Amino acid sequence: MDYKKQIAQSIVKALDGKLEEQSVYEKIEVPKTVNLGDYAFPTFILAKTLHKAPQMIAKDLVDQINQTNYEKVEAAGPYVNFFLDKSTFSDEVLQTVLTQNSHYGDATVGNNGKVPIDMSSPNIAKPISMGHLRSTVIGNSLANLLTKTGYRPVKINHLGDWGTQFGKLIEAYKLWGSEEEVKADPINKLLEYYVRFHKEDKDHPELDDEARKWFKKLEDGDDEAIQLWQWFRSVSLQSFKRIYDKLGITFDSYKGEAFYNDKMDEVVQILEDKKLLKESQGAEIVDLDKYNLNPALIKKTDGATLYITRDLAAAIYRKRTYDFVQSLYVVGAEQINHFKQLKAVLKEMGFDWSDDIHHIPFGLITLNGKKLSTRSGRVVLLDKVLDDAIDLAKQQIQSKNPDLKNADQVAHEVGVGAVIFHDLKNERMNSFDFDLNEVVRFEGETGPYVQYTRARAESILRKADHKVAVADLKLSDPNVWETLKFLQAFPETVLRAVREYEPSIIAKYALHLAKSFNQYYANSKVLVKDDQLNSRLALVQSVSIVLEIALNLLGVQAPSEM
Ligand code: ARG
Repeated sequence: MDYKKQIAQSIVKALDGKLEEQSVYEKIEVPKTVNLGDYAFPTFILAKTLHKAPQMIAKDLVDQINQTNYEKVEAAGPYVNFFLDKSTFSDEVLQTVLTQNSHYGDATVGNNGKVPIDMSSPNIAKPISMGHLRSTVIGNSLANLLTKTGYRPVKINHLGDWGTQFGKLIEAYKLWGSEEEVKADPINKLLEYYVRFHKEDKDHPELDDEARKWFKKLEDGDDEAIQLWQWFRSVSLQSFKRIYDKLGITFDSYKGEAFYNDKMDEVVQILEDKKLLKESQGAEIVDLDKYNLNPALIKKTDGATLYITRDLAAAIYRKRTYDFVQSLYVVGAEQINHFKQLKAVLKEMGFDWSDDIHHIPFGLITLNGKKLSTRSGRVVLLDKVLDDAIDLAKQQIQSKNPDLKNADQVAHEVGVGAVIFHDLKNERMNSFDFDLNEVVRFEGETGPYVQYTRARAESILRKADHKVAVADLKLSDPNVWETLKFLQAFPETVLRAVREYEPSIIAKYALHLAKSFNQYYANSKVLVKDDQLNSRLALVQSVSIVLEIALNLLGVQAPSEM
């Protein structure tokens, strides 16, 4: 139910059509406090046309408006304040939530359009970083939000599985590596060889020549080089998948950088045909002066192609394969320039769909205020973070609810959910510090708090043992008003989160809804047997439904007991 529309219509009618419904609609505000009503219309815009002071206009409007649909309509200074009829409102909202159930908030704005999402995309033979975690969980939540609003997302893990570093890795492995070591602990061992290579090549520059040779062999399809590369790739992928399994996140495609090896010639050809390539100090570049950007480096002096050339090939491939309506890249803010260049070059190539490409940047996760970096040894191993979070959740569950039946499963859902929620409640672009104890708390602005509130709603329903009748769901208790308003605002909140590519909007919403429901529950008796019992249980059930949808949109599970 669009109450703003109803109000806009009341106003237009009272004004005898002096204003258009749309322009009235756009002016309607939501007052800061509830004692100023649920919606307010500022009358300033009418002062010129009506040659009257806004205060007067407000008073006159109140007299003209048909008030039957409202609890009351009041003039307050230059504003007309509308108070919705609470029982009609509660009946409408609760019936909608209960009948639509898990589909509450579904929308069709996406028109089934496909949206590839480039997400996670870690680099082979290196540990997944906290940055990759952010990309993974933001991308996953955006995919859920897009599905809910009628798009068809395609989750693509654009693995960093090609580049000169593989020449170095092969050389390092040949010198110091062993098959058993790698098999036992792939990522850490491969990383160790790689780090050692970088230490030793300072005094032994000939190592670099060897690495270059290996990379050349790899590019030329040499058997041994290819076999080693494939092996590194597959053991890395296996350990990445362990983490994705823990997070409960899947991908539709693992086509990484290597997949585009044979697709870059075409890119270079188009650039040549369009006379966009220029030579600069032996390298081939595209000048992007008119976009106020640095030139894009398409080919290096030695002919090797670069990161952006691969991304050009990938963008074209995705357009051809999915005919997308939007193409998203969830990649850290440090690559903002790269994606600006990517879009600009595509534009220069004559691809207008370049405008449908959106980089979704995000801020850094710091540890005790410091930037994490593999080289400095300030690494946080994601696998360990998740395991520690699960352990912390288990401890809390043991002290709060020692008899819980499937405690291990719930501890997993709470621990992992806590890490995901913490990441998503922060606005994307904000950087934040990571403190595991803070993340897994059952109180405060945490995932477990929302999960706990939802489980509590479920336990109230179990205790009541009453099948809610979906009719006549009127509630007069003023304590319930805020919660009802949050429930009603969910569909528009989902749309805003998709529009802004901002899962934090959903996380914050879930926190607010949970908080308002807990306040209501602390101040009102739900389980008394009177004529509004059915309506109150309908409210409890609606809160449970909406909290579960919100958590799931974030990629967080909602256990019904914890
Ligand atoms: N592998 C890159 C990194 O770890 C991220 C790749 C992002 N996706 C892309 N299409 N460029 O920094």
